[in-house]
Amino acid sequence: MHRQNKFSTRCYVPTAHGAASDKPAGVVALSCFELRRQGLVGRIVLCDMYGTRMPAVRDTVRRKIGEVYDGLDTTLECFPEDHVEAEPTAYLRAMSSMSPGDAAVIFVPDDLHAAVAEAAAAHRLHVLLAKPAVKTLGEHRRLAAVVAQAGVLACVEFHKRFDPMYADARLRAAQLGPFSHFAAHMAQPKQQLDTFRAWAGLRSDISYYLNSHHIDIHNWIVGGAARPEWVMAAAATGVAEQKLGRPCEDTISLMVQWRNGADGSSGSALYTASWATPKGDCHTQQGFHYMGRAGELRVDQAHRGFTGATDEGGYASYNPLYMRYTPDSRRRFAGQAGYGFVSIARFLEAAAGLNGGRTRLEELRAEGELALLSDTAIVTAILHAGRMSLDHGAAVRISYGSDSYTESAETGKGCGGIMRGQAAWREPVAVEVMGAPGSGQKVNEGG
Ligand SMILES: NC(=O)c1ccc[n+]([C@@H]2O[C@H](COP(=O)([O-])OP(=O)(O)OC[C@H]3O[C@@H](n4cnc5c(N)ncnc54)[C@H](O)[C@@H]3O)[C@@H](O)[C@H]2O)c1
Repeated sequence: MHRQNKFSTRCYVPTAHGAASDKPAGVVALSCFELRRQGLVGRIVLCDMYGTRMPAVRDTVRRKIGEVYDGLDTTLECFPEDHVEAEPTAYLRAMSSMSPGDAAVIFVPDDLHAAVAEAAAAHRLHVLLAKPAVKTLGEHRRLAAVVAQAGVLACVEFHKRFDPMYADARLRAAQLGPFSHFAAHMAQPKQQLDTFRAWAGLRSDISYYLNSHHIDIHNWIVGGAARPEWVMAAAATGVAEQKLGRPCEDTISLMVQWRNGADGSSGSALYTASWATPKGDCHTQQGFHYMGRAGELRVDQAHRGFTGATDEGGYASYNPLYMRYTPDSRRRFAGQAGYGFVSIARFLEAAAGLNGGRTRLEELRAEGELALLSDTAIVTAILHAGRMSLDHGAAVRISYGSDSYTESAETGKGCGGIMRGQAAWREPVAVEVMGAPGSGQKVNEGG
């Protein structure tokens, strides 16, 4: 059952303040080392474009993981080799060293996701993509086609799905009648702008970076029974532009009109993301409010009722439900129940299950736990439409394969009423800037 993985340098953040305070030893590498200890993972290949950074990366892995937890084999094979200054396509060599059925865990900048994931699928590797899956609906649809052709599993690493409270909220929401309103807020301190200096406002934005999480949660909750129709975005600026010296939003809000398929009623959503807050009691302020017509739910993902204070760091809210880094009394990694770990583990278990014939893609889809690329095009459509709305100063319409809704044959499979509308009704095919009649500008056909 040996799996191989490829992933980029998430355990290494080359800024003075290091990694975010909620993931001091990273997530992907640590999870893979623990899964190797458990026997699910074999060879681990680490790929980046800068070989000369690899010694520092391995040193970070040794200090933050190898010397902290007992029993973890932290051996990494690195591409490109240490003497290589820069090789942007080293991932192709890394993938060629792997076998069909192995897994690629891809955490490169957003605008590279599509190319690297396509190459992985073409090598018949199962793919786990950092969110946002890709930046445009067209990329999403093309990648989904390549993945379907290759017959591999491709998922987006939306780890909030594995937060026990979010997962429970999804199932409870199914009892609350048609969707009515959703509001989410996710915000991080302005130090993030130093960490993300290389791409913030250039290659991606704060909406792709953080709104993606709760747009997925919302879309997952409504489970194909409602779909977004148009998106209008607004932004705040000032902090990022001063810090980075170029145009860059601090905060982006997306207002989205949703439509329920069964009775044609409407629902509304507001997703807000920021990287311009002051330092607070936790790295990320986050949570959501869901309203069905018969009830509502609120989850505060930042405050789990666990606080502390230190001379050095002051007052803090802790969330070991995400990644539990404190070793157990025998110095072993003890975070196997954290939703950051579970998210990686479930994907790799599913990939191993597919390889071993113990599960099928249709079964994973019907279970609805993993965020399959094929079921998350709506998330990309909203993010893409949000970016277009900011760029054009207008609302952006999302159009679909079909406008007539019927309950699909998949009704009742799995739990939470997943995938209730038929595929064409919930399949976004294009995003288009709205304006006066005749002035609509087709910016992306989505094909
Ligand atoms: N799930 C989460 O909570 C979470 C958290 C942070 C980042 N992310 C996602 O991870 C991705 C990376 O974000 P980041 O801030 O680490 O970006 P980054 O700019 O630090 O890039 C990540 C790594 O990719 C490498 N890279 C760049 N070009 C490459 C190429 N051609 N081939 C191989 N490697 C290449 C960089 O050198 C870097 O080490 C983004 O999609 C981001 O949204 C997800």
